[in-house]
Amino acid sequence: MHTFIENIPKAELHVHLEGTLEPELSFVLAKKNDVALEYDSTEALVAAYDFHDLPSFLKIYYAGMNVLRDEYDFYQLTYAYLSKARSQQVLYAELFFDPQAHTSRGVSFETVITGIHKAQLDAEESLGIKSQLILCFLRDMSAESAMQHLDMAEPYLGWLVGVGLDSDERNNPPVKFADVFAKAKKMGLKLTMHCDVNQQNTLTHIEQCIRTIEVDRIDHGINSLESDKLCELIKDKKLGLTVCPVSNRFVVQSLTSNEIHSMLEKDMLVTINSDDPAYFRAYLNENLFELQKEGEFDQAQMTTLVSNAFKVAWLDEKTKADYLLQVDNYVSQY
Ligand code: HPA
Ligand code: ZN
Repeated sequence: MHTFIENIPKAELHVHLEGTLEPELSFVLAKKNDVALEYDSTEALVAAYDFHDLPSFLKIYYAGMNVLRDEYDFYQLTYAYLSKARSQQVLYAELFFDPQAHTSRGVSFETVITGIHKAQLDAEESLGIKSQLILCFLRDMSAESAMQHLDMAEPYLGWLVGVGLDSDERNNPPVKFADVFAKAKKMGLKLTMHCDVNQQNTLTHIEQCIRTIEVDRIDHGINSLESDKLCELIKDKKLGLTVCPVSNRFVVQSLTSNEIHSMLEKDMLVTINSDDPAYFRAYLNENLFELQKEGEFDQAQMTTLVSNAFKVAWLDEKTKADYLLQVDNYVSQY
């Protein structure tokens, strides 16, 4: 099973580029940019990664990205993730980035997106991994700030596939950003939003995502299982759910394998992802290995989880069919 998972062609749809910042690169960039770090070794830094909920994670996540300053820093961050992903047979990735977390520190939107974009082009050419970019708004900042950043993104529209919503969900419901997402949709962008596990008013938030915002996908969305009505809506609309098992474990002490089993039984389009792999110390393969063990998923179920990611990817039908054929060929030859 380990080898089967390791080598199957994969897609990753929920990964925050800033969450792929490995401690080693952090130290290199801190030195280069003359930024003081609170810890004196990579081991000490990793030892501080003891998250128990979303806010305790976000505090470390935002502090960590302070070492990212110039275009080449964003290039290196992105290229390193894409190399690692490709080494795990990820053939396609949709990447979140958080521009407001950088403009608020005086790093320009152009610097951030140009560094990322150049790395995407180089990784596709040199490593054969295709990727697309999703601009995430920080939900604990204002809707005005989100709108300003959507305007900043307009000259780079061709470099983006969609918009998302992340950061602290408490008291920051989807409807707060209804105008921003309506505008993004008019601009031709796909829409997704985080509905993190066990958040206050989670069922209301999920329903707002589907009915008011009309998202194309939901990030996490585990709690939808508490409502038959929401499960039916998600199925009817064929919405993908980007679940992140190791990320969830920090909050609920389980990889949510029971919930993932339920989603598969209900034919919901659940996918497995890494979220913030440098912080959670698990890339996509490690998420799949650990999940399979906890939930004793069989080969057919693992194949469905992997195939679902290509099915709900924001790609044209022909490209999706080509990737799905690669998965089929792999499985039948295995
Ligand atoms: N949830 C909310 N905000 C985030 C996450 C997440 O999983 N990762 C990075 N920012
Ligand atoms: Zn996330």
